[in-house]
Amino acid sequence: MVTHASAQMTAGRLPLVVGNWKMNGTRVTSVELLAALRSAGPFDAEVSVCCPFPYLVDVALSLQGSGIAWGAQDCSQHEPGAYTGEVAASMLAEFGCRHVIVGHSERRTHHAESDTLVADKARQALAHGLTPIVCVGETRAERDAGSTEAVVKRQMSAVIHALGHCVSQIVVAYEPIWAIGTGLTATPQQAQALHAVLRAQLAAASTRAGEMRLLYGGSVNAANAAELFAQVDIDGALVGGASLKEADFSAICRAASHAALGSTGKSRT
Ligand code: 13P
Repeated sequence: MVTHASAQMTAGRLPLVVGNWKMNGTRVTSVELLAALRSAGPFDAEVSVCCPFPYLVDVALSLQGSGIAWGAQDCSQHEPGAYTGEVAASMLAEFGCRHVIVGHSERRTHHAESDTLVADKARQALAHGLTPIVCVGETRAERDAGSTEAVVKRQMSAVIHALGHCVSQIVVAYEPIWAIGTGLTATPQQAQALHAVLRAQLAAASTRAGEMRLLYGGSVNAANAAELFAQVDIDGALVGGASLKEADFSAICRAASHAALGSTGKSRT
């Protein structure tokens, strides 16, 4: 369980595995999936499930007391008011959400979310006691053009600008867009290189950058998770497709638990 692992990781970062269900499942399959996940736990890493808004009550009831957290996949940058179709961070807090994903590439692409809008959403989440999981990542064309670092740093810098030293309270997810849902994973070395760039950028803004969790996302599965988690700056994963299959998601959570207990041999201090 989280408390147990925390005690073992006094100087380190507790790995975090977050399932992003996206717009998948039904009310029935969601509850079944969570019942199976609950039986597979407890885990020695922090585990969270970000579900579609309408399932939040069921998810909260299914996971209460399990040690597994839950959250949502987006929130409004506004306080409650006349914003048809939006969901306020304060509402998510009412449902016991711990996390909210902001700036996922699917929202940046399909809903034209800008870097500053994503930063405003992150600030709103923090204002209501939620931990924003801020996604950054480059397209295939940007990687091929050699602009990966510049793109990711630009996305991160908007959030740093909006949050200042409070940026240490967020979780960052590096998700190369070309690796999302494609079966193409960044190599552990490619992912580690970007995570190191991000941590250095965060360190210039906060003395607590060394305590921040930086997750990797993009075709993480049961087979590749352990090697990713063994990288010194990779502190867990944001998992799409594999989070919809209990056996796969549990295996990823177990790989993170092994990392939490230090069996990968890496030092996170
Ligand atoms: P996949 O794990 O399906 O590639 O999705 C990654 C993702 O977008 C998580 O937010």
